[in-house]
Amino acid sequence: MRLAARNERGYGGLHLTRVPPGGLGAAAVAGSHPYRDHLDPSRQRIVVVDGRDVGVLAVERRPDGFFIDNLQVLPAAQGRGLGGAIVRDVMDEAFGPGLPVSLRVARVTRARRLYERLGFRETGRTETHLLMTASPPADDLHAAPRRRGGAMDPKRVVADGYDRIAERYAAWGGGGSDPRDDHLALLEERLPAGAAVLELGCGTGALSTARLARRFAVTGVDISRRSIDLARRNVPGATFLHADMATVHFPDGSFDAVTAFYTIGHLPREEHGGLLRSIAGWLRPGGLLVATMGAGDAPGDVEQDWLGAPMYFSHHDAETNRRLVRGAGLRLLSAREETTDEDGVPVPFLWVVAAKPGGDGEPVADDAQTDPADNRGAGSS
Ligand SMILES: C[S@@+](CC[C@H](N)C(=O)[O-])C[C@H]1O[C@@H](n2cnc3c(N)ncnc32)[C@H](O)[C@@H]1O
Repeated sequence: MRLAARNERGYGGLHLTRVPPGGLGAAAVAGSHPYRDHLDPSRQRIVVVDGRDVGVLAVERRPDGFFIDNLQVLPAAQGRGLGGAIVRDVMDEAFGPGLPVSLRVARVTRARRLYERLGFRETGRTETHLLMTASPPADDLHAAPRRRGGAMDPKRVVADGYDRIAERYAAWGGGGSDPRDDHLALLEERLPAGAAVLELGCGTGALSTARLARRFAVTGVDISRRSIDLARRNVPGATFLHADMATVHFPDGSFDAVTAFYTIGHLPREEHGGLLRSIAGWLRPGGLLVATMGAGDAPGDVEQDWLGAPMYFSHHDAETNRRLVRGAGLRLLSAREETTDEDGVPVPFLWVVAAKPGGDGEPVADDAQTDPADNRGAGSS
């Protein structure tokens, strides 16, 4: 079925067609590739030029940007500029509403040059891959908070907000009794020295990252460029990525633990389930998630003056969060509601500790009936 016919002139009648339910069939490109068994007909498209299948393209269209998940051109069709043309086509589509385009590319490959020529810049890296992002023309980016079709962009509000208040937040968040302490101690108790820990929303690193990095190999991710710059200075021994935790990619089974302290509530709540599923993928069997989640119903709103900047918050109630954690395939070890005093305002949070099933001696299946988190306040955290 013909799906899109844009830019036909540029590269000889390229159009995109749905992958048939049985897989790519005629497109041999998939036959030689591990993605063959994982093709998702709702996202994958066969690239067709002049009636012939020449490759495959998969794009995730997320509210905060597009991610090119897979782009392959058959060897016989290479050398005709098709790869670049296809990527430009995706960029045109994303830039219209002011969204960036990201992709992952092996660190040692010629494709990297092509993407640089097209305007992609490195925005993160793993041992083997680079995350590259092309942003819409500057005019679009400097409207703050950026609006798409009249709608506020939550990610932009959060990134701009923490760029402005990174140091103030670090100073404010550092005092008083702090449930983070117990949760950091839990990781120190349960994980061997040198374990790989991913910290989502690490901020300036001055709070938990510095402590974690004394014992573990820490990777910190934050959407605020200024926070990441400060974190690199504050904790030189850790690795930092400037990225959105909802779209960042890590290979499966990369981490022994993932922490997300006071971070998930800045993500639109429709993305919380997807993030938890990603986390479950990034964890090794037996790996731990330690996270602060919301404990009340907040569909998503901007507080105009939060420590001096507009800030976006969005979360589910505690019971929905428990369900989401289990639904991501994690075993809920504890989920404790605690109220934090924010300058005289009591704010309830759900402190979650969960494990990826399948660790040493652990059952692979979760048993929701006997889940200790069903009793409020149960658990070791
Ligand atoms: C309230 S601060 C918490 C910082 C630190 N985790 C702590 O415990 O104090 C939230 C942090 O999450 C980051 N953040 C918010 N949304 C994010 C996203 N989508 N991806 C990555 N980081 C994000 C913010 O930039 C900010 O540094």
